[in-house]
Amino acid sequence: MSERSAGLSFKLGRDERLTGIRRHTFDPVEVLLWALLNELSVGFSSHKPVLDRILPLLEGEGLDQVGKGADMVAYSRDDLNFVIKFPFDDGAMTLTPYFSPKIVDGFFLAQTTLGGLFAPMTDFPTAIEDGRGKTHFVSMIVQQKVRVAADVIDELRATNRTRNIAGVERAYVKLSQRAWSRGIFDTDPNWLENTGFMPDGQMVMIDVGEITKNVREFPYYEGIERRNCYVGNTLRKAFSVSNFARCYLKAPHERQFVPMPKIAKV
Ligand SMILES: Nc1ncnc2c1ncn2[C@@H]1O[C@H](COP(=O)(O)OP(=O)(O)OP(=O)(O)O)[C@@H](O)[C@H]1O
Ligand SMILES: [Mg+2]
Repeated sequence: MSERSAGLSFKLGRDERLTGIRRHTFDPVEVLLWALLNELSVGFSSHKPVLDRILPLLEGEGLDQVGKGADMVAYSRDDLNFVIKFPFDDGAMTLTPYFSPKIVDGFFLAQTTLGGLFAPMTDFPTAIEDGRGKTHFVSMIVQQKVRVAADVIDELRATNRTRNIAGVERAYVKLSQRAWSRGIFDTDPNWLENTGFMPDGQMVMIDVGEITKNVREFPYYEGIERRNCYVGNTLRKAFSVSNFARCYLKAPHERQFVPMPKIAKV
């Protein structure tokens, strides 16, 4: 198996394109083994057609950075209806080969329970080469592109439609309550960057990093207090412990888990 690199040589600049990636003629068995060892098997069976589509995009002109969180950096292009997200190291500003355990866990939870409430996605393990002929194993998430809530709100403000912002907030309350009723909640308070609208207008979550089914976290999680500075007065009541308790289904057998569609074709 090729050498595992601590950090890939693709340096990530702010607003930079991701370029310089070369397709590697990989041995599927080698990648599968690496993927299984790293719990990345979810998308493997369907990964070839998608990789055949996205590797040339990365190889060619590259893709534009469309967003960056604490753990993942997202790339896309105006004419594409999906984003590709890679785990990255914020300090070193390089792509990293692995998803952190919280990404693996959150991905699995979303995949198995949040159908209809989460942007469809699949994880893809593959091998690529950098410009110097060195092989790297990488993991990525390919996900349906959405209009991020923060951008929608910015646009409403810019076009003097601030009254419609309440509709975005209501959509978020409804989305959260539907997730709670499946026994899942998102402890990341920054909902404006972690939710968005699908082409059919449905609001969905996009960030697997901080979703949990551990109800004991709810009353204490950073969100209730910290979320208030994000949600503002209008949403404060919606995120109270009592509202959570009303929506959250305690009995696991009553929860309607819905698997989410995987992306097998882009
Ligand atoms: N499906 C998507 N469509 C459009 N933009 C996206 C999508 N996914 C991510 N982005 C952009 O990229 C940013 C970072 O993505 P994401 O929130 O998944 O990463 P993160 O916060 O590092 O994640 P995590 O908490 O899982 O480690 C988002 O805030 C958003 O601006
Ligand atoms: Mg995020």
